[in-house]
Amino acid sequence: MTARTTPSEVLLRASDVTKHYPLRADGFSRHRRVLRAVDGVSLEVRGGETLGIVGESGCGKSTLGRCLVRLTELTGGRVEFDGQDISTLSTRRLRPVRPGMQLVFQDPQASLNPRRRAGDIVAEPLLVHRYGDAAAVRRRVAELFDVVGLAAAHLDRYPHEFSGGQRQRIGIARALATNPKLIVADEPVSALDVSIQAQVLNLFADLQEEFALTYVFIAHDLGVVRHVSDRIAVMYLGEIVELDETEALYKEPAHPYTQALLSAVPDIDDGADAPRRERIVLTGEVPNPVDKPTGCPFRTRCPYARELCATERPRLTPTASGRHTACHFPLID
Ligand SMILES: Nc1ncnc2c1ncn2[C@@H]1O[C@H](COP(=O)(O)OP(=O)(O)O)[C@@H](O)[C@H]1O
Ligand SMILES: [Mg+2]
Repeated sequence: MTARTTPSEVLLRASDVTKHYPLRADGFSRHRRVLRAVDGVSLEVRGGETLGIVGESGCGKSTLGRCLVRLTELTGGRVEFDGQDISTLSTRRLRPVRPGMQLVFQDPQASLNPRRRAGDIVAEPLLVHRYGDAAAVRRRVAELFDVVGLAAAHLDRYPHEFSGGQRQRIGIARALATNPKLIVADEPVSALDVSIQAQVLNLFADLQEEFALTYVFIAHDLGVVRHVSDRIAVMYLGEIVELDETEALYKEPAHPYTQALLSAVPDIDDGADAPRRERIVLTGEVPNPVDKPTGCPFRTRCPYARELCATERPRLTPTASGRHTACHFPLID
């Protein structure tokens, strides 16, 4: 969330990550069909930065997020965290790595056990990772409540006794408990009232500053991530189609899909000098990830698609001007 002036080390590196879900055979086809939820994603996240991941519902953001912290097994590819390949580690070997990477979920209502008191929910990762004796855990939980702006007097309350924003603060406190380096936040404000969203986003920003956190911040619209992300990855049908510095990507999208997503965002905070965006309205449905188009995944909805787009899959490569997009005919070279 803060622009870093010094280049940092890569904390997280995903290389050609895939997650395919086999579908049950329907009896007619001989081949087992697979749903390609994540389909060859490579990215790097530097220590202290926020990488936003954006794309329409169903494009594979949550699945990717879970792959990045190994909450789901990869079908292919690898993930390195803090210099270690975590994609093949055994459960036992993964155990000491887990505290360093945490997930904050979209819906605090659904991700918090309704029958447990808030204090116990936050204490759980501390107990799992043997933080210390009961007194030490109590002290740490009280500290975490303070850090996320919850009153210590509410430690014994149940999740339903909190507001939506407060519940997400409990989820954030739980994620912070083990002092992680990396937090993957999966649409952490999508379920909240607009008036509350800014408060929770500010909390994320403050915490990043205070604890030198690295974030992967998932959202379905470009509006939310703009203000929190140093760089943004745009996802479509399990692939990253554009990955660039936030301001460059907003000012001049290189991929037609990014341009289309931006057309849907009101440009209230673009200055008067901002170039007028060409509006693209997306037509048609997102194709089914079971039957992905050949070549470029976006070509069936792309106003600029040509023959090559159907035959060859574009790779995420730098254009002449240093932008990173998976497009045969980028909007900026
Ligand atoms: N456990 C699962 N089994 C089968 N398909 C899944 C599973 N989880 C997600 N999917 C499918 O993978 C695709 C990507 O889902 P998801 O990662 O949740 O997308 P997003 O978070 O971008 O909305 C969707 O088509 C979804 O239906
Ligand atoms: Mg999701």
